[in-house]
Amino acid sequence: MCGIVGYTGGGQAAPILLDGLEKLEYRGYDSAGVCVQDGGGLKVAKAKGRLSHLSALLEGGKALQGTTGIGHTRWATHGAPSDENSHPHIADSGKIAVVHNGIIENYQKLKERLLAAGKRFHSETDTEVAANLIEYFYDQGFDFKMSVRKAVERLEGSYALGILCRDCPGVVIAVKHESPLVFGFGKGCNYIASDVPALLKYTREVCYLSDGDMVLFTDREAHFFDAAGDPVVRTPEHIGWDASAAEKAGYPHFMLKEIYEQPKAVRDTLSPRLRDGEIALDDVRLPADYLRSLRRVYAVACGSAYYVGVQSKYILEKLCKLPVEPVLASEFRYADPVLGEDTLVIILSQSGETADTLAALREAKARGARTLAIVNVVGSSIARLADDVLYTWAGPEIAVATTKAYSTQLAVVYLLALSIARQLGTVDGARFEALYAQLERLPDLLEQVLDRRTVAQLQYDASRYFHNRDVFYIGRKLDSATCLEGSLKLKEIAYLHSEAYAAGELKHGPISLIEDGTLVVALATEPAMFDKTVSNIREVKSRGAEVLGLTIERLGEELQKTVDSALLIPETDPLFQPSLAIVPLQLFAYYMALMRGCDVDKPRNLAKSVTVE
Ligand code: F6R
Repeated sequence: MCGIVGYTGGGQAAPILLDGLEKLEYRGYDSAGVCVQDGGGLKVAKAKGRLSHLSALLEGGKALQGTTGIGHTRWATHGAPSDENSHPHIADSGKIAVVHNGIIENYQKLKERLLAAGKRFHSETDTEVAANLIEYFYDQGFDFKMSVRKAVERLEGSYALGILCRDCPGVVIAVKHESPLVFGFGKGCNYIASDVPALLKYTREVCYLSDGDMVLFTDREAHFFDAAGDPVVRTPEHIGWDASAAEKAGYPHFMLKEIYEQPKAVRDTLSPRLRDGEIALDDVRLPADYLRSLRRVYAVACGSAYYVGVQSKYILEKLCKLPVEPVLASEFRYADPVLGEDTLVIILSQSGETADTLAALREAKARGARTLAIVNVVGSSIARLADDVLYTWAGPEIAVATTKAYSTQLAVVYLLALSIARQLGTVDGARFEALYAQLERLPDLLEQVLDRRTVAQLQYDASRYFHNRDVFYIGRKLDSATCLEGSLKLKEIAYLHSEAYAAGELKHGPISLIEDGTLVVALATEPAMFDKTVSNIREVKSRGAEVLGLTIERLGEELQKTVDSALLIPETDPLFQPSLAIVPLQLFAYYMALMRGCDVDKPRNLAKSVTVE
C-alpha cells in the first residue's frame, strides 16, 4: 500500500525522500511524488509509474531544492494511477500539501461541502479532500496545527498523513489513524515514514505512533499529541536490525533471499522457546484451567497468514482436541461470529497492520474473546492491541509474496499447539518428546530442502511448465492446506491461473477442467494418506494431466511410478511436514515467474501491507 516519507533538517530533503521511498517500494505502488519546501514555497514533482522515473526527472533530487519535504508512493484506490491523482496534493489556494495512506470514507460528503464553500479540486482522490479541508480551516484563521486537528476530527476511515504548510517553513505535521506511521528521531533533523526500512540509513531511534497520534516536528523538536489533543510523551525505541537486513545481499530478488533465510528465521523463532525439554511461550500464560474452559478457537487472518490458520486447524485439533475454525478476517469482521470468554481468537499477521485483520481483532475483543496475535513486526498495531503476542522472528520481509513470515507463523503454531497439548494432557510424554525432538531438527531439515539438487530440479521443472495456462494443486489434510499457499504463490508472482483442491474433492467438479497437458502439482507427504492421493493422481493422469509430485524421500520410488517428475523432501512428523513441503512450492513459483518475465518482488496490483479494507 502507499508509502509515506517526511523529513526536515539541515540537508537537502528531496534525495532523502527519494531514497526513503525506494525502501518502501516493496509495499506496492503505481506512482510517486515529493513536495519540498524552500523558504516559503511548496514545490511539487510527481509522476505516474516507477520511482526511478521520478528520480530521473529530478536528477536524483538535485532539481528540487529545499530542506523540508514529504514524499509518497501511491497505490491507487480513488482514481486511476495518473500524474494528477499522484500525491502530494496541494490544496486549492496552494497553502497546504498532503500525502496520505489509507482511505477517507466520508470524502464524497466532505468534498460536496468544500465545493459549496468554493474550493476547487483537480484530482479524483480522497486525499485532496483532506488537503482542502485543512486549508479551509486555515483560511478561517486557525493556525496550522489547529487546522489539522479540526480537519482530522471530521475524517472517517483510515489515514496516515504527512502535511506541510506554505507559511510554516521547516515544520511537518503527521497524523496517524489505523494506517501505520513511524517517527524517526534524528540529530538536527527528524523523519516520518510508513515503515522502518525507509529510516534505517538515517536513524535507528524510532517510535511507532499510536492511533489518534499527531506529531508536529521541526529539525530540533518533536511535539506529540494524543487523539484528544493533549501532549503525550513518545519515547524512542532502538531498532536492533540494520539496513543490510533489508538489502538483497547479492541475491537477484528479495523473495529468493527470503526463501533462503527460512532455516535461520525458523531457528530464531523456535530455539528461544524450546527450553530444557519444555515449551516457553514468552510471557503468554495459558493456564490449564483457562484452556479447559475453552469451547472454540478461531484462527483469523488474510491471504497466506489465513492459510497458516487452515494448517492450525489440523495441528491444534489433532494435538489439543480443541475445535478450531479458520476464518478470513474480511469475513469474520462482519459475520457476527459466536464469541465469548470461552473463545480464543488467534490473529495471524506478518505486518501487524492489515486493515481487515486489525478490524477482526477489535471485533473479537469487543465481544469478550481472549486474543492472541502471531505477528512479525514488533510494535505494530495488531501486536499492541492483542491480549497476548507471540512474535515470529523472521526479520524484515521485503518481497511482496511472503515466504519466511509464513514459515515462522507455522513454527509458532507448532509451539502453541505443543504447549497447549502439554497443559491439557492431550499428548502423552513419549509423543511430546518425539514432537519436541522433531521441532528441534526442523531448521536443519529446511536447510536440506534448499539443497542445490532440489533447486536445480525445480528450475528444470519450471522451464518445462512455464507455458502452461492452468495449474492445479492437490493434496490431503495438511498437504491440502500447503496446496492453498503453493497455489497463491504461483498466482501472485507468476500471474498463472491456479487452483488448490483437497485431492478427494477433485472428482466432484474440477476434474472436468483436466485435459491433455494440464499441470497438476500433487502433494503426498503423509504416509497414511499416500495411497489415497496416488489414486487421485492416477485419475488426473488418465485424463491427460502432467503431474509434478512431491513426497518424502522414503516414498520417492513409489511416487515416481505414477508421476512425470517427483520432488523429494526429508521426512519429519506429518504435522510438521508442511514446513518442508512449502519450500519447493515457493521456489517453483519463483522460477516460473522468472521464466514468464514477471517482476518477482513487486507483482502487479499487489501491496505488501494491505492497510485499506
Ligand atoms: C501472500 C501475502 C499476503 C499476506 C496477506 C496478509 O504472499 O503475502 O496474502 O499474507 O496480505 O498480510 P499480513 O500477514 O501482513 O497480515
